[in-house]
Amino acid sequence: MPKRFYLETVGCQMNVLDSELVTASLLAAGYEAADNHREADVILFNTCSVRQHAEDKIYSALGRLKHVKDRRPDKIIGVLGCMAQKDQTGIFKRAPHVDLVVGPGQIGQLPLLLSQVNTDRTPLLEISLGRKGKPRAQVEESFEQYDPIRMAEARQSAHQAMVRIMFGCDKFCTYCIVPSVRGPEQSRPANEIEAEVAQLADQGCLEVTLLGQTVNSYQYDENGSTVRLADLLERLNKIDGIRRIKFVTNYPRHMDDALLQAVRDLDKVSPYLHVPAQSGSNTMLKRMKRSYTVEEYREMLDRIWATVPDAAVTSDFIVGFCGETEDDFQQTVDLVRHGRFKNSFIFKYSPRTGTKADDLFDDDVPEDVKRRRNNELLAIQNAISQEENDPFIDRIVEILVEGPSKNARKQGDSGESVQLTGRTVCDRIVVFDGASDLTGQILSVRIDAANSFTLFGTLAPTTE
Ligand code: SAH
Ligand code: SF4
Ligand code: F3S
Repeated sequence: MPKRFYLETVGCQMNVLDSELVTASLLAAGYEAADNHREADVILFNTCSVRQHAEDKIYSALGRLKHVKDRRPDKIIGVLGCMAQKDQTGIFKRAPHVDLVVGPGQIGQLPLLLSQVNTDRTPLLEISLGRKGKPRAQVEESFEQYDPIRMAEARQSAHQAMVRIMFGCDKFCTYCIVPSVRGPEQSRPANEIEAEVAQLADQGCLEVTLLGQTVNSYQYDENGSTVRLADLLERLNKIDGIRRIKFVTNYPRHMDDALLQAVRDLDKVSPYLHVPAQSGSNTMLKRMKRSYTVEEYREMLDRIWATVPDAAVTSDFIVGFCGETEDDFQQTVDLVRHGRFKNSFIFKYSPRTGTKADDLFDDDVPEDVKRRRNNELLAIQNAISQEENDPFIDRIVEILVEGPSKNARKQGDSGESVQLTGRTVCDRIVVFDGASDLTGQILSVRIDAANSFTLFGTLAPTTE
């Protein structure tokens, strides 16, 4: 009987991609996917450390598995990803029933590591080096790169795929754990990325999303010349079969004109720019070590609006960062009003052990103040999102059909017409009724109504 695995994922798109690659490597090694942990021989968690809440979720899930392991000691429990790299042997201490802890830099070895645990039956820790005290090249090497297997069955959607173009991050924003757990910034060779996207196109993939923590600082030296993100987009734009190209996450200071012109001129590149501001206060931006001022961020917005007037710009904000006053917060409110973002992700500051902010500053904004600022900013952003969505009513938009909506899935609909969701090029979600076999098609939909998160429409006669 083939062994069965169950993999649960939290965290960002980088983790969703890593989970796809882990799934593909396990399927290729002869494992089968299980629908839940009860049916699985191997239970894996791909984890996130960006905020306390993400870690708490995993530790309580691990806690719930204690009695499972007592009854079925043969089951293997593994913790993968960012929390594995951050907490290391601490995971075995808090959850002694865990068999395997694997950092994001070692997930390529997973099939091998699992068979080792199977044979040895002793806890196994495989992680990368810390970022301090070792030569950079050695640390880079310890965040191992490997040739990922791309398999349509391992993805949530056969028609959409993420492609990593960079590993790690060198920005060290003072609040952020990512540079410690994902290692040094390293751009992947441009020709490898091209080959991977061409392979995905052969598998029927229509949309690729290029991933990097600071994706627009992509830089790869190829035969003496430097390939930047704008050049890479130009090369990927030529690949037959690919219809849409997106890229996340942008760092404000690297949003150069060449990139904006590429977004404007390349027909497959979506006019969608996720470029987190984090705060509207220069005092906070400086304390966060974001390396730009709010004036520079606004100047960047002006350049985006001038070059790509129809761009959907989205942002992230942290409220309640160390020392944030009511006045600092108001400046963030002003920036949200000025930026008119399509949407923003808003987070309450969560101190992370091992970061500069945690070492240097007090987490002195009370929880109830953080919560109030979060809700206030969210309400302002939602009103703007609604205003930005309203003009779509009565317009016809082109969408890539992603599949049945959550509602349709819940009802277990398999009939002729179900509620489907799709996405516009500017990353707006569109809900409409249609046959479930429309998944993976690019279609025209007339928008009838909108709320701040979603557009609702009706299939229009296709333009193709
Ligand atoms: N590389 C991306 C995203 C990193 S993590 C970037 O630079 O924008 C995603 C988001 O989580 C960040 O944009 C930030 O808004 C938020 N975040 C990171 N660390 C955090 C912390 N300690 N507390 C609260 N939010 C945090
Ligand atoms: Fe974290 Fe800053 Fe790097 Fe983004 S750019 S991953 S927020 S350190
Ligand atoms: Fe979390 Fe790691 Fe992503 S810490 S946000 S899963 S890079």
